[in-house]
Amino acid sequence: MTGQICFLLNDRQVCTPANSGLTVLDYLHHLARLRGTKVGCREGGCGACTLLVGSLRGEKVSYQSVASCLLPLGELQGKHLVTIEGLNQSRLSPVQQELVDRGATQCGFCTPGMVMSLTGYLLKAGTKISFEELKNALGGNLCRCTGYASIKRACNFLVTTTGNSSRENIQDLVAKAIVPEYFQEIPARLRQLSQSALENGKTTADFLIAGGTEIYVNYGDILPESRVKLLNQSPQMKRISSYEGKIYIKALTTFAEFATDPTIVKLIPDIQAYVSRIASWQIRNRATLGGNIVAASPIADGSILLLALDSLVMLNNGNRSRILTLKEFFQGYKQTAQKPGEILSEIIFPAPQANKINFEKVSKRKYFDCAVVNSAIKIRCENDVICEIAISMGGVAPIPLFLKQTSNYFIGKPVSQDTIETAFPILQREISPISDVHGSAGYKRLLARQLLIAHFSKLFPDFLQLRDFYTTN
Ligand SMILES: Cc1cc2nc3c(=O)[nH]c(=O)nc-3n(C[C@H](O)[C@H](O)[C@H](O)COP(=O)(O)OP(=O)(O)OC[C@H]3O[C@@H](n4cnc5c(N)ncnc54)[C@H](O)[C@@H]3O)c2cc1C
Ligand code: FES
Ligand code: FES
Repeated sequence: MTGQICFLLNDRQVCTPANSGLTVLDYLHHLARLRGTKVGCREGGCGACTLLVGSLRGEKVSYQSVASCLLPLGELQGKHLVTIEGLNQSRLSPVQQELVDRGATQCGFCTPGMVMSLTGYLLKAGTKISFEELKNALGGNLCRCTGYASIKRACNFLVTTTGNSSRENIQDLVAKAIVPEYFQEIPARLRQLSQSALENGKTTADFLIAGGTEIYVNYGDILPESRVKLLNQSPQMKRISSYEGKIYIKALTTFAEFATDPTIVKLIPDIQAYVSRIASWQIRNRATLGGNIVAASPIADGSILLLALDSLVMLNNGNRSRILTLKEFFQGYKQTAQKPGEILSEIIFPAPQANKINFEKVSKRKYFDCAVVNSAIKIRCENDVICEIAISMGGVAPIPLFLKQTSNYFIGKPVSQDTIETAFPILQREISPISDVHGSAGYKRLLARQLLIAHFSKLFPDFLQLRDFYTTN
């Protein structure tokens, strides 16, 4: 790693020669000696280490909550890092005050993370403050002792005490003491700070890091000392565009960006509901679609959806690009067709114009949990006959599985209970689940069947209802 990493740490500018791969959490504790941010699971799973990272977007700064235990320090170049110390004012902020007043903090270990997530929500430009959204903002923050009733009560009171007036205006947030005054100067100060990308490890890097939400969980002990290349350095790596009936998604696009992109929302109206089932805000703000694919987990939610959308992936080695279908990309358990030196640069799929789409996920917890079995479908009918269909399923094979035989069977058939029931044995022959910590093979086989029924009964409620399948079976 060459050069210094320069950023705004709360209200002061800092430059550090520390390794890009060091986590921001360790930087704060060991080098900056700011220890208000708590260390919990170190795997993105508890929210104790939540911080806000602000990036210039035109004239404004956009803040996102992130898990600092999975955030490489090099990502802070030219950005604003807000820790719990950076929210300190002469009195408690309304967020802190409500948590105290409603008895929503006991040992206090989770409280800094909760304060950061709630403040992050209030800082986000957009629609009115709502109880539901405040509660959702805490989806990645676990509390072991207080109990969620008092935390929810604090959220409820926050809606009243912070009001709805022009949240987009940072002055308004300063006037309400939600953030300190220095926040008003941050856009100008960030403009002065070098926005240029860090000089990265290039070809000599031992690890490529995108969002870091998978790789830090697996290699968190060695990454801080390793030569890393941060892929997340250029805004061009994050674009979503459409051209001649195809959607082009740069691989570094995060799940949060994907789910809120107007083109995607128009084509897949339920996308926000689907993506809300993936991890938490802290993770979705960082986790990329490319990382989800390359990590090749058989239960990766993004891969499952993208398989049913008939996606292609573009791989690039710096000199040459090649395009594969996503189906070909997955070759075995966590094995892919990616060659050494290749980066996944883009994901491409046909815009699903006249198609119905659905995504289903069964997990032990409804939110913030990985799938036991997940599945997606894209289907088009003409005159009530299925003329195009793609079904994918995760957790039932060593790879995210495209159900080729099951999909082919449906072509030319009417949507009916009989058609679907005849598909069950074909589906069961095509999958090969194993028993593991997520569930037994038998349970996964049962879920595979249930998810197929769920797809059709959701997409064709006039033809089929869930109860039809349970009165006869
Ligand atoms: C708490 C928690 C909850 C999670 N919940 C879910 C969930 O519900 N559903 C789900 O699907 N996943 C979940 N994940 C897994 C993870 O967040 C996703 O798989 C994520 O999309 C990985 O993307 P990333 O950008 O963070 O990848 P990284 O961790 O940065 O990288 C993963 C791997 O891919 C390589 N890589 C990344 N991008 C590229 C590229 N463009 N080209 C070449 N190589 C690349 C890296 O070198 C690394 O080997 C969860 C993770 C955590 C920590
Ligand atoms: S320490 Fe648990 S999410 Fe970071
Ligand atoms: S108050 Fe103790 S963990 Fe939440």
